[in-house]
Amino acid sequence: MQHNNQYYPSYLRLEQLLDCQHPLSFEEGQTPAHDEMLFIIIHQAYELWFKQLLFELDYVKKVFNKEKVDDNSEELNLCRHRLGRMVRIMELLNQQVAVLETMTPLDFLEFRNLLTPASGFQSKQFRLLEASLGLKMEKRHQKDYYKRTNEGGFTQPDYQEINAEETVESLLQQINRWLERMPFFDEKYWVDYQPEAVEKIAHHPFWDDYRTIYKNSLTHNEENQLKGFDEHFLYGQTYEDSLSPAARRSALFIMLYRDFPVFQTSFQILDKLIELDHLFAGWRHKHYVMVRRMIGMRVGTGNTSGAGYLEGAVQQHYIFKDLSGLATFLIERRKLPALPNTLIQALGFRG
Ligand code: HEM
Repeated sequence: MQHNNQYYPSYLRLEQLLDCQHPLSFEEGQTPAHDEMLFIIIHQAYELWFKQLLFELDYVKKVFNKEKVDDNSEELNLCRHRLGRMVRIMELLNQQVAVLETMTPLDFLEFRNLLTPASGFQSKQFRLLEASLGLKMEKRHQKDYYKRTNEGGFTQPDYQEINAEETVESLLQQINRWLERMPFFDEKYWVDYQPEAVEKIAHHPFWDDYRTIYKNSLTHNEENQLKGFDEHFLYGQTYEDSLSPAARRSALFIMLYRDFPVFQTSFQILDKLIELDHLFAGWRHKHYVMVRRMIGMRVGTGNTSGAGYLEGAVQQHYIFKDLSGLATFLIERRKLPALPNTLIQALGFRG
């Protein structure tokens, strides 16, 4: 089929797209509220961007779904690039809140009652994004709010779709698997390593040394961080919403030695995930502050406690907190143990 001679409005289906804005207050018998048009358009713009975010995420997850992800592959580089695009979109979505804030609380009150019980809470795409990245319903702030199909909740089909997404491996779990498989710590790469630590509880010469250097870097007030180190990297359990100790070791190692070219793509992928998490949290916070200004402490149209609920969600809905949390366990670059030649050669760090 030939697709030449495209016409801009028809290629973009503008007739349909621009016929999707129907303010309820403009209907017969109502008093038109000027700002309802902005309210509709901004939500629709968000949903379009959510669609794009899901599209990019879908690609990234297809790559990480593979048994083996080649660290030097074009695909991994594309993942880095597309996660970077998601970061840029999230930056835009953060800025968009300011446009909505040109609507005052009184302007909003002119049509707010007409919306009930609809709310952004029912944005299926937003929930799919959260679930696909790795936020489980059970781990959410006020989890009972989500498991409902009554007024203000989801329709049955939407609810089932979100639930189904939660049963698929999340990006967080895929990243965990990818990190766990990294081969840096195989014994064969460390035969010519000169260990220094006296305390040997990590079952690996590098981590015994690292633990000792970390321990010596702690101030008196920070001494209990060593326990945190052991739990994070040596003995801790793995939960569905966290990385395993083995995965955390790889992630920390990549962050520490990120200046080696071979680690660049992996490092940037981890960095983009941290950035995405922060931008989601940033959006949640901006949205919460905007809501508090707009409706004070009134309940939401979606039947949650409103601003109170949103404030709790800001704190609790981080997904890649294990990655950003690694900053607690960094040591100064100049104190890093020198890597053994066998490892350097095996990973092709040089030439
Ligand atoms: C006047 C503007 C807005 C007000 C007053 C408002 C209010 C609220 C409230 C009170 C909630 C909690 C659920 C409820 O009880 O309704 C909520 C949730 C939500 N809203 Fe908004 N909102 C506004 C604009 C937006 C916009 C532009 C978006 C963009 C898509 C959005 C997306 C969401 C999402 C995704 C949630 C669920 C958040 C979560 O569960 O973590 N909201 N909103």
